[in-house]
Amino acid sequence: MRKRVLGKNLEVSAIGLGCMGFTHAYGKPMEESKAIRIIQEAVALGYTLFDTAERYTGFDDAGNKIWNEELVGKALSPYRHQIQIATKFGITITDKGERIYDSRPQTIRKSVEGSLKRLHTDYIDLYFQHRMDPITPIEDVAQVISDLMKEGKILHWGLSNTDEDNLRRANAVCPVTCIENRYSLMARWEEKLFPVLEELNIGFVAFSPLANGMLSGAYDGMRFSADDDYRSFMPQYQEEGQRHNKAFMDAIEDIAKEKGVTPAQLSLAWMLSKKDYIVPIPGSRTRERLMENADASEIFLSEDELIEIERTISSFDTVVFSGPPKTLEKRWDS
Ligand SMILES: NC(=O)c1ccc[n+]([C@@H]2O[C@H](COP(=O)([O-])OP(=O)(O)OC[C@H]3O[C@@H](n4cnc5c(N)ncnc54)[C@H](OP(=O)(O)O)[C@@H]3O)[C@@H](O)[C@H]2O)c1
Repeated sequence: MRKRVLGKNLEVSAIGLGCMGFTHAYGKPMEESKAIRIIQEAVALGYTLFDTAERYTGFDDAGNKIWNEELVGKALSPYRHQIQIATKFGITITDKGERIYDSRPQTIRKSVEGSLKRLHTDYIDLYFQHRMDPITPIEDVAQVISDLMKEGKILHWGLSNTDEDNLRRANAVCPVTCIENRYSLMARWEEKLFPVLEELNIGFVAFSPLANGMLSGAYDGMRFSADDDYRSFMPQYQEEGQRHNKAFMDAIEDIAKEKGVTPAQLSLAWMLSKKDYIVPIPGSRTRERLMENADASEIFLSEDELIEIERTISSFDTVVFSGPPKTLEKRWDS
C-alpha cells in the first residue's frame, strides 16, 4: 500500500481502516475472533492507520458491553510499532442515555487513561476531539492535549467534525496534524476547508468515504435493522432516497466501468487523486473488500478524469446522511 503524510510528519497508509463497524452502528458486533483476524489481515495488506473511538461500543447477545478499542488493541498489539492508532474523546453518554459533547480537561484526562488501557498501549498515535464541545473553549482542550503530548501519551492530535473557527483556534495553541470529517463523492461540503488545510499544512482523514457503503453500489434496495444499524435511518437507504439517487449511482457505475475499477475503488481513488493530504478510512468487515479498497491506492485519475467526474457529480443533487448535529447545546451538569 502507498503511504501518505498527514500534517508535518505523520506517515500512514494511503487508505486506513475504519474499525467502527466491527462493534458499533453497523448491526450486531462481529464475533471477536473473526474481527481480530480481519484487522490482522488488514495489517498484512499494508493498512497501517486504524481508526477507533472511546464511543464505539456495542453489546453482545448477553447484553455485555463491547469496546471497539479493546478489540483494536488486542488485534494490533503484536504490530504496535508498525501501525498507527487513531482514537477519539469528547462524547459522553449520561446515565439517562443522553449524548453530551464533553471535552472538559478533566474528562479528556480520564478518557485518555481509559483508551490507553483498552488499547493495550502506552501511547496514542493520533487523538481526535470527536465533536466540538459548545461549552469548553477549544483553547483549553488544546492546552490539555499539549500537556498530554509532553507526557508522551499522545503523539499527534486532530479534530473531528470540526469547522474552520474551531480548527484555527485549536491550531494556534497546539499544532493540529489533521482533521477527520465526513467526505465522499456524495458529501462534498467539507471542500470549503481545503484552502484552510493547505494554508495550515493540516491533513484530512475522510470518514464514511463510501457514503456508508452506498457508493459501492452493493446495497441497492437493502433494509437495515432499526435496533442496532444506523443505516436504517439514513436518507440514502430509504426507498425515496434510493429513487432520488438512482441516476447519480448509475453515472458513478458507468464511470467506474469505463475505468475498469469498482465504484468503491473509484470513490476512494477520486479523493486520493484530488489532494495528496487526504486519507480515506473505509470501514469493512470482509477480507475481499479490504483488498478491493487497498488496491484503490494504486489507481490514478488524471486531471481530465477529475474534471469529467466533477462535471458529472455536480449535475446531480443527492440525498445523503450528514451526521448528527456538530454541537449539542445541552450543558453538562457538573
Ligand atoms: N469521526 C466521526 O465522527 C466518524 C463518523 C463515522 C465514521 N467514522 C469512521 O470512519 C470509518 C468509515 O466510515 P463508515 O464505516 O461509517 O462508512 P463507509 O466506510 O463509507 O462505509 C462502510 C460500509 O461500506 C461497506 N463497504 C466497504 N467497502 C466496500 C466495498 N469495497 N464494496 C462494498 N461495500 C463496502 C462496509 O460493509 P462490509 O463491512 O460488509 O464490507 C460497510 O457497511 C468508520 O469505521 C469510523 O472509523 C468516523
